[in-house]
Amino acid sequence: MKARTLGTTDIEISPIGLGCMQFTGGRSVAKYIVRDIGQETVTAVVGASLDGGVTWFDTAEMYGGGQSERMLATALKECGIAPGEVTVATKWPPLGRTAGHIGRSIGSRLRHLGGHPIHLYQIHMPTGSLSSIPAQLRAMAALQRAGKVRHVGVSNFSARQMELAHRVLAQEGVTLAANQVRINLLHRNVERDGVLDTARRLGVTLIAYSPLEGGILTGRFHDDPARVRDLPPMRRVFGHSRLTAKGLARTAPLVAAMKDLGRAHGVSPAQVALNWLITHYGETVVAIPGASRPAQAAEAAGAMAFELDRAERDLLDELSRPLT
Ligand SMILES: NC(=O)c1ccc[n+]([C@@H]2O[C@H](COP(=O)([O-])OP(=O)(O)OC[C@H]3O[C@@H](n4cnc5c(N)ncnc54)[C@H](OP(=O)(O)O)[C@@H]3O)[C@@H](O)[C@H]2O)c1
Repeated sequence: MKARTLGTTDIEISPIGLGCMQFTGGRSVAKYIVRDIGQETVTAVVGASLDGGVTWFDTAEMYGGGQSERMLATALKECGIAPGEVTVATKWPPLGRTAGHIGRSIGSRLRHLGGHPIHLYQIHMPTGSLSSIPAQLRAMAALQRAGKVRHVGVSNFSARQMELAHRVLAQEGVTLAANQVRINLLHRNVERDGVLDTARRLGVTLIAYSPLEGGILTGRFHDDPARVRDLPPMRRVFGHSRLTAKGLARTAPLVAAMKDLGRAHGVSPAQVALNWLITHYGETVVAIPGASRPAQAAEAAGAMAFELDRAERDLLDELSRPLT
């Protein structure tokens, strides 16, 4: 599948990237959200993504307080990838901090990333900072002008907040490259809340996080509901209504259709879900599935290697619409 352009920048990325929230080494609150996987597995996951044609990686300071950035950098080194050879995105968490922290902490972000340039630096969420959103964006723009980061993005921003971000950055001579938001077959809010239309109008890429709805769209809990018990506690809580017997019964017809389509193409339901996501919205949406095993990363990358036809995409559209 053809590479996509990140917003209106000069950066080309594969339609599927790798989400690196799974790389936290069991640190901080992350251990309640993801299982602890060691460096060896992280390197194998990154290697499987690269082998499958993934060209970019999304991490964040918040994923283990820099641990994910460090593990990603180590994995890339162990895979023989030199700084600049792949695209790296990371995020600044605003919680309890002023905009001044953006400039003060960039050195440690770059250090954790072991020499890999930051192609996309994102404000992790619109809330929680002691400074205004414009002040945060001006600090981000200053980093770009100083050559510390290549491009600026945001995450979890509403349509109105995207407009604001775009305007403030434009005044600084910087473009808003991306907004990272939750989008998947069971979570299509961007179609109703103006985020998709705004992204298209402003030429901003939407980076779809939790594209498998935390694993629910793989069908593994439909096959064996007992597997819900193996999930880290916060994943059980966040996915609660979808993971009950009633929730799983509600999404079962969609998952059954994904399995049928998967059989017809020789792929898995997860690959069907990801392929739908990166094609249904045209060029605007790219996805960053997370993986805690190399086989999952290989499967995610494989979602770029086949095509659902129009009728197949329409069927998924129709079955998922009432569920979102
Ligand atoms: N900006 C934000 O606020 C924000 C928020 C959340 C996530 N994110 C980003 O988005 C990325 C992905 O989101 P996510 O991890 O929440 O959800 P996701 O990609 O929907 O689900 C990932 C999980 O699904 C399971 N999985 C993946 N492939 C599978 C397969 N082929 N078969 C069976 N199970 C499979 C794995 O669970 P197990 O590990 O349990 O096997 C994996 O950890 C994160 O890594 C992070 O970079 C960003």
